[in-house]
Amino acid sequence: MSDHSERPSGIGPGYQFDTKYYADKSPEPCPWAKDTPPFKRYGNPIAEIELPEPETTGGAGLWETIARRRSQRRFKDEPMSLATLSQLLWATQGITGSEDGSRFRATGSAGALYPNETYLVLNNVEGVGPGIAHYNVRGHSLALIHEGPLGQACADACLGQRFCATCQVVFAWGAVVSRSAQKYGDRCYRYLYLDAGHIGGQLQLACVALGLGSVNIGAFFDDEVNKLFGLDGVEETVVYLTAVGHTAGR
Ligand SMILES: Cc1cc2nc3c(=O)[nH]c(=O)nc-3n(C[C@H](O)[C@H](O)[C@H](O)COP(=O)(O)O)c2cc1C
Repeated sequence: MSDHSERPSGIGPGYQFDTKYYADKSPEPCPWAKDTPPFKRYGNPIAEIELPEPETTGGAGLWETIARRRSQRRFKDEPMSLATLSQLLWATQGITGSEDGSRFRATGSAGALYPNETYLVLNNVEGVGPGIAHYNVRGHSLALIHEGPLGQACADACLGQRFCATCQVVFAWGAVVSRSAQKYGDRCYRYLYLDAGHIGGQLQLACVALGLGSVNIGAFFDDEVNKLFGLDGVEETVVYLTAVGHTAGR
């Protein structure tokens, strides 16, 4: 039987200890977790943009797509179509099935809770932006929540990584902590990041399949990035981003 009597020192070992499952000990309940709706919806956005229907058949072959995946950090200055953006959103968080009242999405999620909300920094997308939008999963639409160019602010918030300003769109995933914590307690801090990793990985493959370039971003100033999307960094906090666009090479 594993020993769970003594918490090790250090933030890493301490985190592993606090979030472990044991056969003979239930995870601590989360006293601060609250009932959280499964979908986030902005009440009065600047605009609500319907997205074109995504393709759900055909597309590039999987093995070739995997073989061609490489991070791309240089982008051409030309707009991305709304149809392309729609396809990427569907490929990452689109609803692909339902069963007994639950809706399932393009990537898996611990407990099918889908805690990560999708935000976009729209630098150069046909017919929308520049600005910041939130993906309304249920309606497959965008809520424009800020108007004005923020690509450079995003680059600054991502440790000066310039491609955030030169790409067509930056995807950012904000984890609604309570949505997962209400079931998993502190163990949710494992699942929020694992879920986001799946989403970012799938986005990169979808990009390759569409002839686009992308690079995942784990290096960012948390407070600055959260501020960009109006998140408090505690109840909801950005865990991962990906810059996407028309590639001009690596
Ligand atoms: C979790 C994670 C975080 C990353 N963060 C960054 C980043 O902040 N900036 C960057 O330029 N690349 C970032 N990358 C991309 C890696 O540098 C890249 O995946 C790695 O060099 C392997 O190259 P490849 O993706 O072309 O195969 C990140 C990748 C992952 C998976």
